[in-house]
Amino acid sequence: MRRKLVAGNWKMNIPSGGAVSFAADVARRTNGAASEAALCVPFTEIPSVLQAVKDFEVSVGAQNMHFEDSGAFTGEISAAMLAETGVKYVIIGHSERRQFFAETDENVNKKVLKSFSHKLTPIICVGENLTQREQGVTADLVRLQVKIAFQGVSVGDAAKAVIAYEPVWAIGTGKTATSAQAQEVCKAIRQVVSEIYDKAVSESIRILYGGSVNAGNAAELFSMPDVDGGLVGGASLKAEFADIVNCVK
Ligand code: PGA
Repeated sequence: MRRKLVAGNWKMNIPSGGAVSFAADVARRTNGAASEAALCVPFTEIPSVLQAVKDFEVSVGAQNMHFEDSGAFTGEISAAMLAETGVKYVIIGHSERRQFFAETDENVNKKVLKSFSHKLTPIICVGENLTQREQGVTADLVRLQVKIAFQGVSVGDAAKAVIAYEPVWAIGTGKTATSAQAQEVCKAIRQVVSEIYDKAVSESIRILYGGSVNAGNAAELFSMPDVDGGLVGGASLKAEFADIVNCVK
């Protein structure tokens, strides 16, 4: 039985009222929840947020990392540096990184491998844009993104990974995929994982839906058999984030 995961992606934002008090409030309100809650925060907030939630079950994550251990990569943060802070998760290949920072499937794969070598759990983002959906290539594209992301990843690591299906047209637009659309693609992702590895891996890997998830639509999305929770952007900066975590009983 997969435990649902609701990961907040603050992006380059701090909740009003401040990171520490917001995180502490989420921690208090979600303690003992059926779903796991995670907060993926800007690098600079990681230590204080970890400290704020240390007596609670909330996990903390980063939003990106570099695939090299160290070197002349001005402005970048390595997996080793992240691991040293104590974060559990790192978002890899978010569509905003693909779109604005030239992230490629090959880089995503290198980052996934490196995250595992430092015992971080990657939340690997995949998803189609509107043109691709209209061209009818969603399943093909997402299969390709998953296949490349998992090149060289061991069976043991793959089973621990998290994949987030995020249709680009649904991110920050208020246009959520229907639960049927989310289920269809999450199911296709589980199928490709089963082809790459085996049924056991495909049944233990967690597949999230992301794109305009809020307290009003989360319960239905998360009730789909292949949707194991959500990656939440805008609503993760609001008090409703705890309601989204708590919507699964
Ligand atoms: P959104 O963002 O919930 O604001 O649509 C989701 C994401 O980018 O992960």
